Amino acid sequence: MGLQTISVPDSIKQLPYGDNAERLIDLANERIEAFMLMDGSVIENFVTCDFHLVDQAIGWMIDNHLATGNQFCELGSGFGAVAMLASLRGMDSIGIEIESRLVEQSVRLADDFGVDVEFYCDSFVPRDVDGLDEWTTEVSNVDTEASDVYDEIGADLDDFDVFFAFPWPGEHGFFEAVFEARAAVGALLMTYRGRDGIHLIRKI
Ligand SMILES: C[S@@+](CC[C@H](N)C(=O)[O-])C[C@H]1O[C@@H](n2cnc3c(N)ncnc32)[C@H](O)[C@@H]1O
Repeated sequence: MGLQTISVPDSIKQLPYGDNAERLIDLANERIEAFMLMDGSVIENFVTCDFHLVDQAIGWMIDNHLATGNQFCELGSGFGAVAMLASLRGMDSIGIEIESRLVEQSVRLADDFGVDVEFYCDSFVPRDVDGLDEWTTEVSNVDTEASDVYDEIGADLDDFDVFFAFPWPGEHGFFEAVFEARAAVGALLMTYRGRDGIHLIRKI
């Protein structure tokens, strides 16, 4: 088993946004700004990706039939906007986020916008992954505590076809280690890498 990089062309930036995506992104950004101003205690690990670019990348992935199925999971979903964009594109989508205040905001946004996404408040890190301990000293922006969230979801990581994450710089290896250990062969992991744009890998 291994990981294969799929090259994502720069031209995705020219692709149209999904139906209602821009309206959702505007509302999400408005709520995120209000939340940051209102909330006294900063959630240090929370920053948002480029929602427009990720929507275009999801559209490109769908148009090119790259996913083996329709199940989408955002790991560390923050305000849940990417999970919602995937749902607007027709995927069955969930988000897993450890900060309860962010999960509350995600549920409210999804309800108000009328988009069907389930959010789970816990750690996405599965139990008993061999070799993951080595990473715990390397990552400081992911809570590396393992959880039983997959029992609550009623699905395991190998039930999902596409994962999305926005790792902090230098921490994408942790997400890849979880993905390689537990995702199904053929599944995709899409990550947003800041200035380096979108990165896509497949488990082979
Ligand atoms: C960089 S933010 C990205 C948020 C969102 N995915 C986006 O792109 O806008 C990373 C998020 O992961 C969450 N997080 C960190 N460790 C986690 C864990 N073990 N399980 C679930 N969420 C986690 C943080 O609270 C934060 O909201």
